[in-house]
Amino acid sequence: MKNTVSAALAALCVLSAAGCGGPVRKDIPAYLDPSRTVEERVADALPRLTLEEKVALTHAQSKFSSPGVPRLGIPELWCTDGPHGIRPEVLWDEWDQAGWTNDSCTAFPALSCLAATWDREMSLLFGRSIGEEARYRKKDILLGPGVNICRTPLNGRNFEYMGEDPFLASAMVVPYVRGVQENGVAACVKHFAVNNQETRRTATNSVVDDRTLYEIYLPAFRAAVREGGAWAVMGSYNLYNGQFNCHNKRLLCDILKGEWGFDGVVVSDWGGCRNDDEPVTNGLDIEMGTGTNGLSGKGNPYDYYHLANPYLERLRDGRASIEGLDDKAGRILRTIFRTGMSPDVQYGSFTSPEHYAAARKIAAESIVLLKNDGTLPLHIAEGGKLLVVGENAFKMQTVGGGSSNLKTKYEVIPLQALHEAFDGKVKVQWERGYVGDTSTSYNLVDTGQDLTESRDAQTLIADAVSAAADADLVLFIGGLNKSANQDNEGTDRTQIELPYGQEEVIRALAATGKPLVVVNISGSPVAMPWADVAGAIVQGWYGGTESGHALVDVLTGAVNPSGKLPFTVPCRLEDGPIRTERQYPGIQVEGKPYWEEYYDEGIYIGYRWYDTKGIPVQFPFGYGLSYTTFEYSDAKVARAVVKGAGKTAVTEATGSGKTVQTVTVRVKNTGPVAGAEVVQLYIADPEASVDRPAKELKGFRKVFLQPGETKTVSFDLDRAALSWFDAEGHCWVAEPGTFQALVGSSSADIRATASFELK
Ligand code: BGC
Repeated sequence: MKNTVSAALAALCVLSAAGCGGPVRKDIPAYLDPSRTVEERVADALPRLTLEEKVALTHAQSKFSSPGVPRLGIPELWCTDGPHGIRPEVLWDEWDQAGWTNDSCTAFPALSCLAATWDREMSLLFGRSIGEEARYRKKDILLGPGVNICRTPLNGRNFEYMGEDPFLASAMVVPYVRGVQENGVAACVKHFAVNNQETRRTATNSVVDDRTLYEIYLPAFRAAVREGGAWAVMGSYNLYNGQFNCHNKRLLCDILKGEWGFDGVVVSDWGGCRNDDEPVTNGLDIEMGTGTNGLSGKGNPYDYYHLANPYLERLRDGRASIEGLDDKAGRILRTIFRTGMSPDVQYGSFTSPEHYAAARKIAAESIVLLKNDGTLPLHIAEGGKLLVVGENAFKMQTVGGGSSNLKTKYEVIPLQALHEAFDGKVKVQWERGYVGDTSTSYNLVDTGQDLTESRDAQTLIADAVSAAADADLVLFIGGLNKSANQDNEGTDRTQIELPYGQEEVIRALAATGKPLVVVNISGSPVAMPWADVAGAIVQGWYGGTESGHALVDVLTGAVNPSGKLPFTVPCRLEDGPIRTERQYPGIQVEGKPYWEEYYDEGIYIGYRWYDTKGIPVQFPFGYGLSYTTFEYSDAKVARAVVKGAGKTAVTEATGSGKTVQTVTVRVKNTGPVAGAEVVQLYIADPEASVDRPAKELKGFRKVFLQPGETKTVSFDLDRAALSWFDAEGHCWVAEPGTFQALVGSSSADIRATASFELK
């Protein structure tokens, strides 16, 4: 997969007198010498730069690039969206797509889809593949992955993130980051931090206590930095502690660069840098995306960026320090030496068969079977008829959604894949059923589909119902899409239920008495009050280029489903932890310049809330069925009593710490076909001196088993897995007492337990 120049370089090093790590070259400056370490190159380059050149590094020169140092042969730094594909080129100064004809990429699945694989190997494959596409397109910083926690099902950007649980998001982000960076492309983890809604995203102050911050909203970022070694982090649009997050002292200086020792670059979200002074001192390194269009006519608009002329003035009159500038410039140079000027830099690859295969595999592994009365996998006799109903069987979904909008070489829609799979042996008929979003283009990317519709809602339903009359099976494929108020950047959803009257369509189809399968395509939780009327329900996702194939692989049984929900699907929005306007979308408070949003629910989001409060849900976190069955037995802890109680400093490694306990369980495939199960380990701390959730995810493994096969699955626990965050002591605490290790197939389906004592 790797077409690297590093092998060639290594060979050269052996032959050359200079040799990697050996005597250094005298004929070129150290910063140009690839055999030097990154730090040697930074130390050599930095003093060569003029004040103006250093400042130029700290802000954009175009919509997606900063200038490098042309005089010294130090290249520009190019960024690209986004989390699940390489964005088409835009104009130099504007958001508009440039209209290139060679920038159609592979669309990989959206990140909530990746999270649903619960498979670290899929995340590594994803990161490597998208990193190769970024490198091929000569990009140095990939603006992703996103790891903001799904706090409310309504957040328009949940599809770009990795679910509701910090452990799952942490485990999944690490291989993604490593995979991207293997290519000499920096992963830019976003949006840091407590950015959990799109409503008024640039004018809302998140009010969150420290325990909640450290236990829920920071861990995935920390893992990306500490374990994944992320080279870049993007600040978010919102405020925290009353300060904008792109120049938020506590988040960027104290936590990210202080406690976690982050040595990479902090990039502002586009337009997220909001004043002249804070960015100078509060941890921002590169200012991107501040409006340029309105400033044109004043010479070079980029000179008016906060970190351009205003910064130069402050440096010249002593209000800003040279050390501060050197820190920023040093970090930016480090990023350039790690990426564009790295000896390990790859050539990359683009829209390759390997990337399409990766996209299909990841998408297929993510699909979650929620209910099955035996209707799935599809079995329709030759000569029979399959009626497909619903807009999402036809509508392409890689176009739209905001900055993650993609221009792909192709996208396989479910209907096409169904036609291919049944290959004329079964009649496949499509009825639209409802009209959702008829748009087919976004930022000048056009799918070329015609989604216009002249029938009214009742006629659409009547047509679908009458087409069901001679069908053997009805397959409804609906859900959300990437338009405003759906899964979309810049707006939140307005309801948790299916939009566009889809429930009525589903109920009408069920009333025909035909076997009914419902596929919900979405990137965030959708309530399913109609669940009883469907024989089978499938959670599909935005699967990218190969989405149709992946979905049909699962529907036909070519792939046995093994995805698990990365978030809870509640029965109703009102059942959830967010119940007041204070909590979401925030309120105006006298004397406060921005909207205030109070995270009053604290650590109790997702299954932590439903489980602890005993509130029934439609489908729990971690849930997903298979075409086979699994039996769990013999859960054991290695030791009944373990040592390790105590405090852990915030600067110490958590997650990769010393093992204090090992939990094992035997899992057997008791059904007729091969399949994979995600075995989940939750920990309960019933004797804690503070409130703790009923259980918390602390381990998972995906195991593949042939029929009748048994494997032992093992989980190592470190002290971090047993700890809660003590806000007063500002440290992690693992308290002595009895802990329970709960092993199961979902957060609500615990199959085996074992207890142990921590001393
Ligand atoms: C989004 C980022 C994105 C950036 C550049 C912003 O509006 O919030 O996620 O990377 O634009 O397109």
